[in-house]
Parts: sequence; structure tokens; C-alpha cells
Amino acid sequence: MAKLTINDLELHGKRLLIRVDYNVPIEEQGGKMVINDDTRIQATLPTLKAAIDKGAKIILTAHLGRPKGKREPSLSLRPVAEKLTKIIGKNVEFCDQCVGDTATEAVSKLENGELLLLENVRYHAEEEANDLDFSKQLAAHADVYLNDAFGAAHRAHASTAGVASVITSRGGQCAAGLLMNRELQFLGEELESPQEPFVVILGGAKVSDKIKVIDRLLEKADTILIGGAMAYTFKLAKGLNVGKSLVERDKVTVAQAALDKAKERNVQFLIPTDNIVAKPIEIDGKFSFGDHHVNDNQNIPDDMEGVDIGPKSIDLFSNVIKEAKTILWNGPMGIFEDQRFSEGTFSVARAVCEATSSGAKSIIGGGDSVKALNKADLGSQVTFMSTGGGASLEFLEGKELPGVAALSDK
Ligand code: 3PG
Repeated sequence: MAKLTINDLELHGKRLLIRVDYNVPIEEQGGKMVINDDTRIQATLPTLKAAIDKGAKIILTAHLGRPKGKREPSLSLRPVAEKLTKIIGKNVEFCDQCVGDTATEAVSKLENGELLLLENVRYHAEEEANDLDFSKQLAAHADVYLNDAFGAAHRAHASTAGVASVITSRGGQCAAGLLMNRELQFLGEELESPQEPFVVILGGAKVSDKIKVIDRLLEKADTILIGGAMAYTFKLAKGLNVGKSLVERDKVTVAQAALDKAKERNVQFLIPTDNIVAKPIEIDGKFSFGDHHVNDNQNIPDDMEGVDIGPKSIDLFSNVIKEAKTILWNGPMGIFEDQRFSEGTFSVARAVCEATSSGAKSIIGGGDSVKALNKADLGSQVTFMSTGGGASLEFLEGKELPGVAALSDK
């Protein structure tokens, strides 16, 4: 059932509590906390602008990091309020509490169209415990609740689920923000009945992280391309030699089952035919790689580790991608953070962008593939990049996300 969205709401003069995902990469530089990537802040602008235009009193709630119920100063959201002020070109008040008298007073001072960001909800252990009393304290700030934090929607926490239940039970409305709505549209509806050929590209370290996604997408995809370290577990399942590559030996039967299902359903299932390999070296407990080269063979030599897909695999994968009409990509092809092993991931990124410019719909399932696209400055050339990591994967697995389930139906 479709969920209520901000477009359905009358918000003039109402106190609107918006859960956003401002869990951004942040680090100390010269005694100041600096935000390294503001993608998640930028992504909330359409919702914030709509709320301002509708004349709501806007209260933002979010988490940063995992302080486990303690007030960890380096995980304060104050720098985020400063950043948002700059980005949105309008003052964003900050309150160093998220519940209690100080927060209540800050909320009461809001005029229509003004914004207030509350301190990190995870400074309270009650947030992750989805504590009812804490949910009620958050709900007391608001007339209406909006969830725009797709990235945190897989968590059944007070600010994502509990607060919505409290507001619903007192007859209030709980709706999706515009970002949340777009995420559900692209990762949900668009992939329900994709235009064919539908090509799924999966990478990353572990088969176990993605097996449920693979299993579900085997029902829909025409082709599945596998890269990253998880490809080596599939190689093992095919009886190939993987040398010192990262593998999950206990997942070989799971990989075999996926290969069998692909065959049964007539899904083309491709793993790399060649690889970039390197010799893992450990000196004084520090790991590095030496002697990297193309291994033009399905088998990887005993003393070598696979670190990227090879040139033949790049051609094979790129040709398939260029024919696609719908593309879903989640996970890098190799250790792309190391320039020597980045060509596979960046070539796939370029092929996805080329297909998009020829009319394909490209959906990037969050996490490292988004990082890789941004690193290659190609982020604007795909159809949609998810802001979720774990949430995207769970959603693609077909799970109901607590932060979505808690919202009002249309
Ligand atoms: C994320 O960064 O994936 C989300 O903000 C969720 O964060 P969490 O994994 O700490 O719950």
C-alpha cells in the first residue's frame, strides 16, 4: 500500500518533526569537526524546501555514528546544523538536547518556515531500544511526523518507528519525505517490473551479505554480473583455484545453489574470466600488495590474491551493461580505493553511465558503488543513487523496513 507523502499534507503553522539521515562522514581537522561528504544533507533539501514553502515549523531529528547512549562530543550534530545553514541559505537553529525542557523550549520558539536541528538521538540508549517513553518525548515536539531517513529505515528505533506509532495512536499523520519516496520508487517500484534487458551488477566482499538479494533478483534479472571478492566464492563453487583470494568457504554451497537457480531460470550469470592479481605481503603486521599483474586464466595461482576484474572481464561486463535497459549496481569490482586495482570498478561505472545516456535506467544501490561513482565524478550521470547502505540491501532483499511500515497508508 502506498504511503502518505509530504505532498499530501497541510502543514501551515504545524510543528513538523522530520527524521533525516545525517549520519555523514566527519573527522577532526585542526581542532574542528569537518564533514567530508555532504551528499546525505543535500539529499534532504527537496523535502526541507517543501516543508518551508508549506509554512511548517520544522524540527529535524537524526543520529550520527554509534555513541551507544553516551554523550560523545565528536558525534555532535552541531557541525551538521552549520553545514545545513550554509547549504540551504537560511539559519538552522541547533539545540544540544533532543528531548527535555531545553528542547521543548527551542521547539516553542519556532516560527512558520523556520528550522531547528536537535542533538544526536543516539546520545540516549532509549533511542536504539525503541523505548516508548522516549518515543513519547520525541512525539511531544510534533503535530505531524515525516520520515526522510531512508538510510536508517531498517532500524526499529524510537526516532524511526516508535515516534510514528505514538503519533498515529493519537490520530496524527506520519508521512514519507520526498527523498524517502524516491528511494522507495527506484529501489521498489522500478525494479518490480523493470524494462528488459535487466542487468544486475553485484560486487563487494561477501556472498553472505548479498545472497538474499541475489536470490530475489534471480526472479527478475536477465543477467547477473558478479565482481569483487564475492566472485571468488563462486569460483570455488565452480571448482576453480582461487589462490590466496578472500573467500567464504562455508558459503560455497549457497553460491552453488545460486548458480543452479540461475541455470534453472535461464538467467545469464557471469563471473570474471580473468583478474588482476597481486601478492599479499605482511611486514611487521602491516599488509600490502606487490607484483600485481593480469592473470589471464580462470584459475588464480596459489600464491596470488585476486584484487580486481581483468581486462577481458571488463570488456565482457561492459558489453552486457551497454545493452541493458534497466541496471541495478551494488558493490565494487575490486579494491578500488587502491588506484592499481580500481580500473574494473571505474570501467563498470563508465559503462553504466554510457548505457544511461543511451536511455537505460540506472539505479545504484548505495554504499561503495556510490563512493566509486562520486570518486570518478560520474554521480550525476546515473538515474538514481541511493543514500542507504544496509537499508538498501534489506529493502532489495524484499524485507519490510520498520521506518517505512510505521508510516500512514494513503
Ligand atoms: C547508515 O549510515 O547506513 C545509516 O545511517 C544507519 O546507520 P547505522 O548502521 O549506525 O544504524
